[in-house]
Amino acid sequence: MTNIAVIGLQWGDEGKGKIIDLLTPQVDVVIRCQGGNNAGHTIVLNGEKRVLHLIPSGALHQKCLCVIGDGVVVDPKVLIDEIEGLKAVGFLQNPKQLAISGNAHVIFPYHIQIDQLRETKKGGKAIGTTGRGIGPCYEDKIARRGIRMSDLVDPEILKHRLEGNLQEKNEYLQKMLGAKPLVFNEIYEKYNSYGKYLKNYIANVNLVLQQKVKEGFKLLFEGAQGVGLDLDHGTYPYVTSSNTVSGGMATGAGVSPKAIQHVLGVAKAYATRVGHGPFPTELSDSVGEHLQTKGAEFGATTGRKRRCGWLDLVWLKHAVWLCGVDSLVITKLDVLSELKKLKVAMVYQLNGKKIEGVPSCLEDWEKVEPVYEEWEGWNEPLEKATCFDELPKNCQKYLKRIEDFVGVPISILSLGPERNAHIHLRKIM
Ligand code: GDP
Ligand code: IMO
Ligand code: MG
Repeated sequence: MTNIAVIGLQWGDEGKGKIIDLLTPQVDVVIRCQGGNNAGHTIVLNGEKRVLHLIPSGALHQKCLCVIGDGVVVDPKVLIDEIEGLKAVGFLQNPKQLAISGNAHVIFPYHIQIDQLRETKKGGKAIGTTGRGIGPCYEDKIARRGIRMSDLVDPEILKHRLEGNLQEKNEYLQKMLGAKPLVFNEIYEKYNSYGKYLKNYIANVNLVLQQKVKEGFKLLFEGAQGVGLDLDHGTYPYVTSSNTVSGGMATGAGVSPKAIQHVLGVAKAYATRVGHGPFPTELSDSVGEHLQTKGAEFGATTGRKRRCGWLDLVWLKHAVWLCGVDSLVITKLDVLSELKKLKVAMVYQLNGKKIEGVPSCLEDWEKVEPVYEEWEGWNEPLEKATCFDELPKNCQKYLKRIEDFVGVPISILSLGPERNAHIHLRKIM
């Protein structure tokens, strides 16, 4: 048995959705562990593109149980729309295919409004959040006043908790953000109906997972966002509000860290970031534009253009260490074809001096400069390659040097958005 965690090693959108969909036939359960509908995980099948925001990326495989774990924050309206959207095209026909933890916290309209109004108020200093209410919902969770899925499905408990919370939120919205107060009945009626719809999907996820492990089923823990956006270890404060590192998968799913036997770290062959914040290898020239266009780098959730830059091995090595990565997936290698020279960041320089690892405080992050090595590119398209040896020689060198620098092997190469556009280099399960 090998349970694996699939996590993003950069700033999100590394192609996790595609890889999870690809691996799902080898597992029995896929579990979303943290984040919410700030995530957008794309799966392309026979030219048709689907973006999943809350439902695990195993949903396109009938036999896979999809679990929304304790650590996720759920916008019930978005979840219901996603369930209905999948049902309409023949997926999720059996309601038993989806289990939602009663411990997962619920996103309310005041979370979304607070998120968006705060961003507007910050102006040039905004984080560039997805505006989905993620941060304010996690704030309530940490402050021990959050409303959970198990509360949502009980009309009396929901009423009681919402009344208490809304009073405080309305005060905050009016006094701090200059907004109008929200009306209790409007929210209550809507959320009560969401609760009715979702009731049958709520489960004691902890027991479900215990049972699955006892029976020898394989679990896949689905990461959202990426290590650069981790609340503790990312480029704070330009981060999301959950732990995106592999440790976050264990707490978010409600399993012991020992339940994860292989950490699969997903990284793009270059780097992207959506939203604001430090990005040392960012390119604001024609090469950056080329990567953005050829890689179709638009946010899967907000549609924003993704910022693009060279591969940052300093960051990647750090992320590999933080997550105990066992092997790597390199995605979007096809996007690099036709670039004559490729630059790769090997060390950071701060105030003219090389530093070890990555900085901690924002002021240093804003000042660090990457020291690059220039590697030869390749011209040939990669789609036809079926094994490592069929890749252009310079592409092989690019990959070998990544492995050598970060100290872990590559197990999968992704060469296009479609499910079958990949090369397996090593067995992981
Ligand atoms: P996630 O959030 O990590 O699941 O990634 P996203 O779905 O937000 O963004 C990845 C984008 O790259 C999606 O549009 C994918 O369809 C696409 N993609 C994934 N792997 C590859 C690849 O190897 N090559 C190319 N060209 N596109 C890919
Ligand atoms: P997936 O799972 C890329 C970014 C936002 C913003 C910061 C905080 O698809 O890789 P938030 O709404 O979470 O408070 O925003 O985090 N962000 C993502 N960027 N991919 C994601 O998810 C992201 N989820 C959040 O752009 O910079
Ligand atoms: Mg995404």
